[in-house]
Amino acid sequence: MPKLTVDGEEVEVPPGSTVLQACEAVGREIPVFCFHPRLEIAGNCRMCLVEMERSPKPIASCAMPAGDNMVIKTNTPLVEKARRGVLELLLINHPLDCPICDQGGECDLQDLTLFYGPNHSRFAENKRPVPDKYLGPLVSTHMTRCIHCTRCIRFLDQVAGVEELGACHRGEHMEITTWVEESLSSELSGNIIDLCPVGALNSKPYEYKARTWELKKTESIDVSDAVGSNIRVDTRGNEVMRIVPRLHEDVNEEWITDKARFSYDGLLKRRLDRPYVKRDGKLQAASWQEAFAAIKEKLDATAADKVAALAGDMVDCETMVVMKDLMAAIGSPHMDCRQDGGQIDPAARASYLFNTTIAGIEDADACLLIGTNPRHEAALINARLRKRALRGGFKVGRIGGTGDLTYPVTDIGAGPESLKDLIAGNHSFADILKNAEKPMLILGAGAVSRADGAAILGLARQAAETFGMIQEDWNGFNLLHTAASRVGGLDLGFVPGAQGRDTNGILAGVADGAIEVVFALGTDEIEPAKLANAFVIYQGHHGDRGAHAADVILPGAAYTEKNATYINLEGRPQQSKLAAMPPGDAKEDWKIIRALSEALGKKLPMNRLSDVRLRLSEIAPHLAKTDVITPAAWQEFGGSGDVSSDAFIMPVENFYLTNAIARASEVMHQCVSEIDARRAQAATGTGG
Ligand code: SF4
Ligand code: SF4
Ligand code: FES
Repeated sequence: MPKLTVDGEEVEVPPGSTVLQACEAVGREIPVFCFHPRLEIAGNCRMCLVEMERSPKPIASCAMPAGDNMVIKTNTPLVEKARRGVLELLLINHPLDCPICDQGGECDLQDLTLFYGPNHSRFAENKRPVPDKYLGPLVSTHMTRCIHCTRCIRFLDQVAGVEELGACHRGEHMEITTWVEESLSSELSGNIIDLCPVGALNSKPYEYKARTWELKKTESIDVSDAVGSNIRVDTRGNEVMRIVPRLHEDVNEEWITDKARFSYDGLLKRRLDRPYVKRDGKLQAASWQEAFAAIKEKLDATAADKVAALAGDMVDCETMVVMKDLMAAIGSPHMDCRQDGGQIDPAARASYLFNTTIAGIEDADACLLIGTNPRHEAALINARLRKRALRGGFKVGRIGGTGDLTYPVTDIGAGPESLKDLIAGNHSFADILKNAEKPMLILGAGAVSRADGAAILGLARQAAETFGMIQEDWNGFNLLHTAASRVGGLDLGFVPGAQGRDTNGILAGVADGAIEVVFALGTDEIEPAKLANAFVIYQGHHGDRGAHAADVILPGAAYTEKNATYINLEGRPQQSKLAAMPPGDAKEDWKIIRALSEALGKKLPMNRLSDVRLRLSEIAPHLAKTDVITPAAWQEFGGSGDVSSDAFIMPVENFYLTNAIARASEVMHQCVSEIDARRAQAATGTGG
């Protein structure tokens, strides 16, 4: 461990540390522009200069390895002069845009100039013009503000795995640009906005809309996939103005997907803001009392075992637990939280968790993907896989699916029969898995929602056991959910009770008349025609597919409008926070069901959120431990029947349109028309 002196203080740092890290270890704050702890070192801005004994010139501390007996000084007149000089040079060509610049108030250049910069300029020449670049519907550019730190280039290249930005020309003429002017194609492209230390890259949908100090900042959780990315929701009044990531090393590090960041404009569109009741074949606006009366009238005329409940992809735990209790009060066992018909085993928790954990991917040395495209289903898990792959010694094999995952992949086959062959050792990848110390597999949610899903789940368990993925301190079996609500629903037992019907059974029952009433909680991925024969009570926030099937609509709250619990795919309970009020008459979902229970004469004993949370922890005690993963014990699960020879079909057809909020978002639709079109061109070789 190198031992060095910083400003007279001795410090010992781990081997491989930089001088910058040594300075930070003794509490010195070193200003930086180009350095970022998650990107390779570029050493090109020189803002981090410090003085080193016996060096004739100041050194770039971010790029200098810490060595034994170094004597570093961070607060000498030479260092101050060097910092002032760097800022003076950067400002030669920097525009005086602060009053209108979106970065104003959270700009590194603004802050560092205030602390270290010169108070006047010696340059009277014209500033250099740089044309703005077109990067697509998400990122706007103001290239005169660019300070050439190259963080954006390095992020896309190293983290996102798409080489789409680069620098052309040299010195004063350098420009950051795409190779051909077209949209960025990464699912993570919005992160370059946060990384840009100045206002050169901005959020296009948020551009010139608000100033940072006007915004109320609420820490919350994203529900656009099952990762549970930590986010901050910035609102002005009752409007969500932007969504940015929060740091969580074990979940999303400091990145979020473009869907999590940019689909918020969908929160204002196609909203259900009042109850509706179908009269004379048409949905008509109604009061809450009228809506509840219509439900009571129908339920009073229906036998309990003809009533069912389904929960969609963004339903929170509080809502599901209250609905589960209402179903018990009604006396029906027919309920399911797997609206995709997934044949997951709710009795075996290890069968439906991402047991390795997201951070645990970094310890694995081989990975088998079965019927999944993690790039589209959970882009941040894909980014972890890429991060692990970049370190080397990590082989990835794939059964089913095509396309670039941003790291090398061995294609093994297309369907479950290839998995059988692999288990039998009939493919060279079997040896890779057998010889790995910590192998893992990722089974896609689409693979278990087929008719032979239970048998595929059983095969995946067999693969995990055959290839040594289950060890005392290592569980390499992982199910990749695409829905934020799924693990919560399974943990709470929002699944069929004794003699109850699952999703497929409920839909079959609707078709043959065995089920007459369906409570549809945010079930926007079920074709309305499949529910056409039933009396459907749809509770949700958007006029999407689920509402089209409805006979009664109860307007609920979106994830930004309620304090709610979501369990991510690892089994980690996290809470979203109310950042804006639900529109119009819409209410928090658990409150609607609680009020309905009273109207039905089956009043549930929950009056406050704390009562509901207590009930959650009664059913699943681990849900009370926020942000703590309770590991699941390994056990038998899955079926053993025949599997079909059909190839796996990926559950996410279009990354940008996977939920009702995203489908209501104009920005997401722009992404479809520009970015997807570009991908299609690239696939057919007709692109630029
Ligand atoms: Fe001002 Fe920073 Fe914007 Fe430059 S990038 S105009 S310094 S706020
Ligand atoms: Fe750095 Fe921003 Fe310029 Fe990219 S656009 S090089 S992140 S200043
Ligand atoms: Fe060290 Fe840029 S931060 S050279």
